[in-house]
This record gives sequence, structure tokens and C-alpha cells, in this order.
Amino acid sequence: MSNTIVKKNIQSLRGMNDILGEESLLFTYFIENAARIAKNYGFSYFETPILEETALFKRSVGESSDIVNKEMYQFIDKGKNDVCLRPEGTAGVVRSFVENKFDRAGGTYRWYYHGPMFRYERPQKGRLREFHQFGAEVFGISSVYEDANIIMMLKDILDFFKIGFKLQLNSLGCQTCMPPYRENLVKHLTNLKPELCEDCNKRILTNPIRVLDCKNDNCQRLLYNAPKITNNLCENCDTDFEKLKEILDFNGIAYEIDTNLVRGLDYYSQTAFEFTSSEIGAQSAIAGGGRYDKLVEFLGGRETPGIGFAIGIERLLELIKMNETNEEVFYLGALSDEALNTLTKIAGMKRKTNKVLIEYTPRGFGKHFKLAQKQNATIVSLIGENELKDGTIYTKNLITGEEKTIKVEEF
Ligand code: HAM
Repeated sequence: MSNTIVKKNIQSLRGMNDILGEESLLFTYFIENAARIAKNYGFSYFETPILEETALFKRSVGESSDIVNKEMYQFIDKGKNDVCLRPEGTAGVVRSFVENKFDRAGGTYRWYYHGPMFRYERPQKGRLREFHQFGAEVFGISSVYEDANIIMMLKDILDFFKIGFKLQLNSLGCQTCMPPYRENLVKHLTNLKPELCEDCNKRILTNPIRVLDCKNDNCQRLLYNAPKITNNLCENCDTDFEKLKEILDFNGIAYEIDTNLVRGLDYYSQTAFEFTSSEIGAQSAIAGGGRYDKLVEFLGGRETPGIGFAIGIERLLELIKMNETNEEVFYLGALSDEALNTLTKIAGMKRKTNKVLIEYTPRGFGKHFKLAQKQNATIVSLIGENELKDGTIYTKNLITGEEKTIKVEEF
């Protein structure tokens, strides 16, 4: 510690937030329920380090992507290793998949994860430098039924939290149909060069399909007549894409085809999708994902199909209303000193099945109600001299207002 007293308080870094208060309740409520749904779909928890070798993201997310090019928290550590804070979760999971030789063992793997991701972007509403994702990855299944399965699981998660969304879908083709399409697109874009924005001009050289999702209105207008990937798919990709649409239709899942949806990460092939909401402002993507059948091979493993998605937790929490958590929270309080011991015993029993908060200072009814409300409790349960004598407990449901005094055993 230095001897000089510095008056200025230390604050969190720009774009990096603490998760506390109501948001922390929603955060755990989200993780617990999303994890439950993922487990129902056969997924198990997987965790990879937050810090990885920079080369991992360069090779997978792609050197020409904004994420790698402009947004990485990259540094040289004390051992002179070039490392960076993960900007996304898929690359680490694939690295681990190969490192642990799951590719050699073969079979199907379904994993979910959640945790912080880091991108040095310009912070704004819905865009943080440290944000959290809930993601899922599947290895070993090339069937398009799995694409539908992943989309259905994501929809189930959003439905559970009563979140309205739009599903946008595209196919990015494969190594057979993407290269000729790209060539075709470059020819078209080259003619438009003088009118396209500076970024698009760079992208024509580095990653031409990214031109398609340029946010500039003028560029979008110019792209109106650009060749569409979905009109240029090979037979295999076309059949798969049609089948995916058929399965989604069959399951009543509405979607829109967006041929300009290319995603900001380079590892995708075939299915790409995004779930958006019109209620959270400009950063409208709440989740995104797709197939990445070449990524395992690209990171040194045996060719293994893969598909997955990630949800942006902070963006999603904006859409979950606190009163929708439906969580029953008991607040236990004493009306007199003598009741405290009994209260600790009752709390111990009730906690086997419910969330219970306990207040150690005896108070009157009104004070207890106020404290309970402050702590987002839904049921207030109080014991005073009379209740102690009768073996009863007073309860009030703060949502419905219903009051009753019941036997402790019933409680
Ligand atoms: P992504 O589209 O880059 O995909 O990110 C997924 C979600 O993370 C976005 O839809 C958004 O909700 C959230 N997100 C991204 N950047 C920020 C930010 N700066 N601030 C707040 N939220 C953000 C991926 O990361 C892929 N790994 C998804 C995937 C998994 N594909 C296959 N498997």
C-alpha cells in the first residue's frame, strides 16, 4: 500500500457491472431454470477457464471478426504467454473437447455452461464489456433434427420466462457451396465499392459475407440485389435447410428467413439463427447460435459435427419481470423474545422445502410487514405469546393479503 492517501474512490471499470439486489435474484432464478430445462434435454454442466491462449480465438472466431480484431482483452502474462479473457464460450468448449480426446472416443455429447465473457466494445444499453452468457453445445450429431432440437430448447427457455421473441434463420452453406457463393458475392460487391461504407470496403477483402449484415442503411439498400446464399446452396445444404424449416413448421415454431444473417463469428456452416426482442433497444439479439461442423477439425481434432447457442443473460434479464419469478419466500419473525427459539426450530424444518428468511429482533406486526416487503418475501409468519401458548403461527400472504392463524404442524 502506498503512503499517500488518494481521495478518489475506486470504481468498477466501464462496461463492467456488479450483479446485486433485484438483478442478483433474477440472475440466479434464470440460471437455475435454464439449467433445469437444459438438463431435461439431456445436457450436463461443463466449465472451461475464463483465460485462454489468444490463438484459440484467432483460429476459431476468426482473425477478421470484430471480436478478435477489435474487442479482445488480450495481454502477455508473466510467463510471456499471449492470453486473453474469453470473448465467447464455444471456442473453449471445443478446445477442451479436442484436448480431452472426446473426438477420438466418438459418440454424442451435450453440454451447457454459463459465465462471464469479455469484449472491449463501446458500452451502451445492452452492450457491456463484461457480460454473461448461458450457452449449450452439442457434438457428434449431424442430423438436422438436432438443429431443431437446439432451437426448441432455446424457445422453451424463453417461453418459461414469458419472453416474446422473433426467430431469424439462415443457412450459411458448407465448404462446397460457400466458396463459389463468396466469389459471386465479391464480384457483385466490387461493383458497389465506391458507394459502400469504409468498413464494408475492408470486409470485401477480409470477410465478404460480413458485408451482408452491415448496419449502415445505405449499404443495406445497396445490398438489396446482392446474390442470396439460400439461392446458392448445394443439394445437401438445401435439403437440410428445407427439412429444418419443415420440422419447425411441424412443431409450430414461427421463424423468418433472413439471408443477411451471417453472425459475427467465422466458425459457422449451414444453420445460423438469432432470437431477437424489440423491447430492449438497439442491441436486440438475446441469443444466437448455429452449426459449426468444421470447428473441431480446425482446432486439431477429428472431424466432428457441432451445434450450439448462447443467450446474453443481461439482455434477457431486462425482459423478465420480478413478479414473474413466482418464488415463495417465507419471512419468519417474533412478536416477543420468548418466541425466538421456537422460530429457529420452525425455520429449520421449513427450509427443507422452502426459502425462509428469519428476523431475530422481536417487533410489532407493522414493522415486520415492512421488513418482509423490503426483502421481497411473499409470506410473513409471526409468533408471539398467544401463538406460543396455542402451538400456532400467524401467516399473511403479502401478494393476496390473506391472513390466517394455523397449527405449527400444518405450517
Ligand atoms: P454471440 O451472438 O456473439 O454468439 O453472443 C450470444 C449473445 O450474447 C448475444 O445474442 C447477446 O445477447 C449476448 N452478447 C454478446 N455481446 C454482448 C455484449 N457486449 N454485452 C451484452 N451481451 C452481449 C456467441 O457468443 C456464440 N458463442 C454462440 C454459439 C454457441 N454458437 C454456437 N454455440
